[in-house]
Amino acid sequence: MLPNKKALEIIRKYMKIYNGKNEKDIKERLIKELKEEHVLVETEDGTYTLKAEDEEEMMHSKVGALKEAIYKFAKPSKITDLSNPRVLDLCSGMGYNAIAALHYNKNAEIDMVEICEEVLFLTLFLDIPYKEHEIIKDKVREYFLNKIGIEYKSDYDNINLYVGDARKFIIKSDKKYNVVFHDAFSPKRDPTLYTYDFLKEIYKRMEDNGVLISYSSAIPFRSALVDCGFVISEKESVGRKRGITLAYKNPNFKPNRINEVDERVIALSVIALPYRDETLSLTKDKIIEDREERREKLKEKLIKIGKYLSTKQIKKGNIPEEILKIQKEDLNSSEIIKKMRLKFFKDANIFIL
Ligand SMILES: C[S@@+](CC[C@H](N)C(=O)[O-])C[C@H]1O[C@@H](n2cnc3c(N)ncnc32)[C@H](O)[C@@H]1O
Repeated sequence: MLPNKKALEIIRKYMKIYNGKNEKDIKERLIKELKEEHVLVETEDGTYTLKAEDEEEMMHSKVGALKEAIYKFAKPSKITDLSNPRVLDLCSGMGYNAIAALHYNKNAEIDMVEICEEVLFLTLFLDIPYKEHEIIKDKVREYFLNKIGIEYKSDYDNINLYVGDARKFIIKSDKKYNVVFHDAFSPKRDPTLYTYDFLKEIYKRMEDNGVLISYSSAIPFRSALVDCGFVISEKESVGRKRGITLAYKNPNFKPNRINEVDERVIALSVIALPYRDETLSLTKDKIIEDREERREKLKEKLIKIGKYLSTKQIKKGNIPEEILKIQKEDLNSSEIIKKMRLKFFKDANIFIL
């Protein structure tokens, strides 16, 4: 899914007349037009975000675009403590997460990946109250000036900008990251970047001490992370009841466990079935449709072998005692989930076969 169509149309008009010298002039007109069309929205911390293609969703929550970048991504990643931070900033948008990362660690090397040129262009005209915004703007300026044949070299070699589908980027990348910001639109509207297959590619490109962070707590997403080998954990979120997800590569790490109800649902319910995209090329509709079909088949199979449990009963903890008591063990959430699956289904990988 992309940002709002009307917004992109307006931004494109200004991209056509951009020459590097007319930023001031474009700024006034572009921002005014986007606001008049109600597609550029001020959030509670005074920073701006865009509506999504599906107008039910925005690129950030109303608590604040910058606030989200700080409290859902930069701070939970503990980037300040890293001596050699290498960040993969998926779905960079207007660059809020990259700006926050640089603010908390000026040594961060960041690969920004964004499919939509228009949102990157927009950042040139926003006022984001961290000086690191100038670094991101300079990099974006370099991209757009070079595109129209004007030579310009940004001073910031620690930032790389890739404009394209994150799925194509990840298979070509030979780098290793210790922080991954995963900031796609919600999986129920666009699961493209939440599939087991995409997450597995990220897993391979992470350092052993690496962490992937997402604001999403969706069950099929967390389940896919467990199947990929991540240790899943959660932290309180700003502006949302459900917590953000942290996924660690180190299998022996014992971070905070996710809540017990989610652990059971991920372990035992058919709603935990991950999205799949083996060729990393399917459309979002095909990915959703394919999962629906597999889910129906799995449900039938489990009913046949007497292993089907409804999500409602799983949530209530109305499951065999010997499975329930696994949650009392001193293990991390991923170990608990795998152990419950192994004991109940006799197969820890039942959801990715
Ligand atoms: C929730 S917004 C991210 C906001 C962003 N992190 C920021 O700081 O402004 C999701 C972004 O994902 C981008 N996107 C959607 N599909 C993508 C894909 N397959 N690869 C890369 N970016 C994608 C959208 O264009 C949009 O900018």
